[in-house]
Amino acid sequence: MHFQVPKGTFDVLPYGAEEKWRLSSLWIRVETLLREVASDYGYQEIRTPIYEQAELFDRGVGETSDIVSKEMFTFLDKGGRQLALRPEGTSSVMRAFMEHGLAQKGGLHRFFYLGPMFRYERPQSGRYRQHTQFGVEVIGGKGAELDAEVIDLLFQVYQRLGLKNLTVHLNSVGDPPSRASYREALLGYLRPYFQDLSSDSQVRFEKNPLRILDSKDPKDKEILQGAPSLSAHLTTEAKEHFEQVQERLASIGIPFVVNDKIVRGLDYYNKTVFEVLSTDLKAQNTMGAGGRYDGLLKQLGGADLPSVGFATGLERVLQALVQLYPEVSPEKGPVAYFIPMGDEALGKCFTLATLCRREGISAGIELQAKKLQAALQNGSKERARFFILIGSEEIEKRTVQVKHAETREQEEIAEEKLFHYLRGYR
Ligand code: HAM
Repeated sequence: MHFQVPKGTFDVLPYGAEEKWRLSSLWIRVETLLREVASDYGYQEIRTPIYEQAELFDRGVGETSDIVSKEMFTFLDKGGRQLALRPEGTSSVMRAFMEHGLAQKGGLHRFFYLGPMFRYERPQSGRYRQHTQFGVEVIGGKGAELDAEVIDLLFQVYQRLGLKNLTVHLNSVGDPPSRASYREALLGYLRPYFQDLSSDSQVRFEKNPLRILDSKDPKDKEILQGAPSLSAHLTTEAKEHFEQVQERLASIGIPFVVNDKIVRGLDYYNKTVFEVLSTDLKAQNTMGAGGRYDGLLKQLGGADLPSVGFATGLERVLQALVQLYPEVSPEKGPVAYFIPMGDEALGKCFTLATLCRREGISAGIELQAKKLQAALQNGSKERARFFILIGSEEIEKRTVQVKHAETREQEEIAEEKLFHYLRGYR
């Protein structure tokens, strides 16, 4: 039997990863930075289970969306409950918000999350069946400032990471009256082409014609080229909101382009939608995406609170980073690497290495090599900054030899001074 990771998934490893973006040290660095930015903007972490009642996503993301109709990992538990591995985080955050009565606090609620999502998609570069999202959701505010705030937060994440070649594509999918008016216009335009539409789009024609705009079918795409534009059907309120979002973004220096082809694959959006596209990604060029979803909470049975948010896929972020910076520096090694010279020094090295670790000074210890040269090589491989050499002579004098890994300079210091010496390099 030959075991391997399930199709569309991958391992993140400390070393030995075939591709650099799957090194755990890089993931940790990115995750730490994401938490820092979230905290700078006043967002607090929320963690929800990786599975929910499947119906939450049917109602939230929408039954006719690809995500729900084709890509959801659903299963029955032993109690006969229909569950789904979460394909996205927004619906789960809404569920938790309602379940715990968080609306009672009043005001604005700013959340972020970081974790795996599951979609049964055809795997390719940048597209996985298990992927990791960092997302934020602001609940309770309808001002255009919040749309601009979350876009700025996303952009700030990318900037602090050093990502380049990104463009924010912005659009408005209108409010419900805008979409009702547009729906009629779109149906009128598509009716003569009905027989030529893909079978998926024919189903959507009845159930949810706006979804047809998201079709990947080449024939559908051709037909859609002449379709009426949603922007001509925006109500005054939706139009004003969209203009304000653009003004706010311009005022804080976020570069964006208005792109009326952005419709998003989830049904809950209204008014602002956006995608950040990168030219450093191969097949899948959407680095992050989101928008406003004012009606979702109410639709799921909660309060009528307007909301806005986004999510970005960490795999794509890491892939773009290693594409831009192929030389990304590897993780720092231990501060001290203890090398016993002779069997009698092993006990001393073990005690001192343990005391170092307890003091918060990272320490490794040579347990295999019999020769000094081989031990130094092992320590170098681990990227240690100091080698601490101890033999019978040092034990007797209660000293240690400290060898600087880079300069190879060596000095003898009293054992009791070692922690003080190393502490500065933690
Ligand atoms: P989404 O556009 O479906 O939005 O996904 C957000 C991001 O997750 C994408 O831009 C992409 O970076 C990443 N992503 C999605 N699917 C995959 C996949 N199969 N493999 C790798 N990466 C992937 C949402 O999920 C919304 N919940 C975002 C949101 C939050 N809107 C408002 N609040």
